[in-house]
Amino acid sequence: MPTVTVNNVSLSYEDAGRGVPLLFVHGFPLDHAMWQEQIAALSGQFRVIAPDLRGFGRSGVTAGVVTMEQMADDLAALLEAVAIREPIVLCGLSMGGYVALEFWRKCAGRLKAFILCDTRAAADTPEGAANRLAIADRVLREGPRPLVDSMLPKLFSPRTRGDRPQVVEQMERVMMAAAPQGIAAAARGMAERRDFTAELKNVRCPTLAVVGADDALSPPAEMQGLAAAIPAAQFCVVPAAGHLAPYEQPAAFNAAIASFIGAI
Ligand code: MLT
Repeated sequence: MPTVTVNNVSLSYEDAGRGVPLLFVHGFPLDHAMWQEQIAALSGQFRVIAPDLRGFGRSGVTAGVVTMEQMADDLAALLEAVAIREPIVLCGLSMGGYVALEFWRKCAGRLKAFILCDTRAAADTPEGAANRLAIADRVLREGPRPLVDSMLPKLFSPRTRGDRPQVVEQMERVMMAAAPQGIAAAARGMAERRDFTAELKNVRCPTLAVVGADDALSPPAEMQGLAAAIPAAQFCVVPAAGHLAPYEQPAAFNAAIASFIGAI
C-alpha cells in the first residue's frame, strides 16, 4: 500500500481504478480492509481510495486524543497529496460517518455525493462519552481484547455469524491488531464529537443513507431518521447485514451505491 505523510502522520491507503473518486472511510477500530469487496468490485468503475485512518491499520499512530475533525483534515490532505481536486463521493461507515460529517462541515464544496452507512448524527450522551473514556484507559492497560469482546457480538447479523464465521474472524483479527494508543485516541475523539443532528437539513449534495437490517449499533430506525432529516436523501436497508453492511453483504451494498452514483 502506498503511504503519504500529511499533517505530521503517515497515512497508508489503497488507490485503485480510474474515474469519479470514491473515498471510503472505515469504522472503529478497523482499517481499510473492511472495504476489500468494494475496492475489488468498484475500482472497475471508479477511482477508489480507502485509507487507514490515523491510529489504525498501517497508518501512523498519534497518542492522546484524535478528533473526528483531525481525521477529516487528514482526508482532505490525503486528497491533496494524491492530486484529487475534483468533487468526490465520500462514503463513511459508523466512525467513518462521523469523520465524513466533519469533512462535509469543513469542505462541503468538495462533495459530489455523500454515502452514510451504519452511523449516526447525534453526539454521545454523557454516559456514552464516559464509557468511551473508560474503555480507552482499559485498552491502554490491557490491549484491544476487552473492546473486541464487547463489540464483536454486536457487529454482525445473525446470518453472517451463523453462515460465515470466517468473516467475523477476519474482522476480529483486524481489531486485535489495532494499536492500543490508536484505539484510545479515537475513542476519546468520538467521545467529544460534535452533534450534527440540527445540521443535517443543510446537507445539499445527493445523499444515500445505508444500513444493515440487523444493525444493533446504529439501528435502521435511527438511520431512517437521519435520512429523513437530509433534504432529498435516499434510504436503503441491506437485508441479512448488521453494523458492517458493506462487508457482510457486498453485492447488495455495491449494487445500491453504484446505482445511486450512476443516477447523479
Ligand atoms: C464503529 O463501528 O465505528 C463504532 O461502532 C462507532 C462507535 O463506537 O460509535
